Amino acid sequence: MSAEHGYLPDIQEGLKFFPEQASSYAGELDLFFIGLVVVCGFMTLLVFGLIVFFSYRYHADRQKPREKLPSAKSSHRIELSVLGAMFVIFMGIFAWSTHLYLDIYRGPEAAMTINVVGKQWMWKVQHPEGVREINTLHVPVGETVELRLTSEDVIHSFYVPDFRVKHDAVPGTYRKVWFEATKPGEYRLFCAEYCGSYHSRMRGKIVAMQPADYERWLGDQGEQVAPEVQGASLFRSYGCSGCHLGKSDVRAPSLAGVYGRPVPLASGGTVMADEAYLRDSILQPQKHVVAGFAPIMPSYSGQISEGEILQIIAYLKSLQPEDQALNPAAMTQGDAP
Ligand code: CUA
Repeated sequence: MSAEHGYLPDIQEGLKFFPEQASSYAGELDLFFIGLVVVCGFMTLLVFGLIVFFSYRYHADRQKPREKLPSAKSSHRIELSVLGAMFVIFMGIFAWSTHLYLDIYRGPEAAMTINVVGKQWMWKVQHPEGVREINTLHVPVGETVELRLTSEDVIHSFYVPDFRVKHDAVPGTYRKVWFEATKPGEYRLFCAEYCGSYHSRMRGKIVAMQPADYERWLGDQGEQVAPEVQGASLFRSYGCSGCHLGKSDVRAPSLAGVYGRPVPLASGGTVMADEAYLRDSILQPQKHVVAGFAPIMPSYSGQISEGEILQIIAYLKSLQPEDQALNPAAMTQGDAP
């Protein structure tokens, strides 16, 4: 049960009031948190102070003059000013928190997107260059790192206290979360959503490095195959190319340049071909049937891992509309409107 096993945080760290501030927005979030504590603390003290004061001053045994009540007009004034002050304070909190939330939610343009898949009970990571890690994530300091979070099984939560990052990894969805590490070092990673027997062991670390060290680290990982290249070979090995690529007799929509475009549906209307759409089309092909095509595609649910889906999506995103790798004839072959 010692720190050696890594199950218990060491006591000293547990006693610190705040975790280290190691990301660009950690300070701002802490300031907001302190602001809330101060406002709530002040209100609590005020209310309890007045209760104590009045119960002493107007205790039944004490002969205090009670006939001099404030006039209706001045008590209205008191009520209005209390209401007004509350309104200003709470709208202030609302404005501050919304501003902060939107800043963090939208985030700046990301320098890189790293895929993170939660799985009972580990975090599987793949860098854009192809490097994979388990329960460890190396990132460069001073760059905006975006994570594309998903889960292979149940809901997990990616939690890095020192970065003030906590975001659910939900099966069937892609969630984005970003951070910018400000100091090199190692930071604890936890799963913050109860996800089964070994939830407490689902932990790891973030290693923040100077950009040059990060580049060197990437280089040291040996020859890597980029996710889109891995995706291209999966596209063939799972047989996707049999229908979605040239020469095939089976009619299936061309996938060149599909990403980021509206797709007309057989049911009428269109759907935007984003990452979620591509994922759904692999696992639940009947959900969005493309106009002009029969619903004949089989589901790959249960046969393909989340990591592989991400690689196939990376491949499809890399295809340009004029890409000759995919069937140009499919565009004209169908009787699609
Ligand atoms: Cu994964 Cu808790």
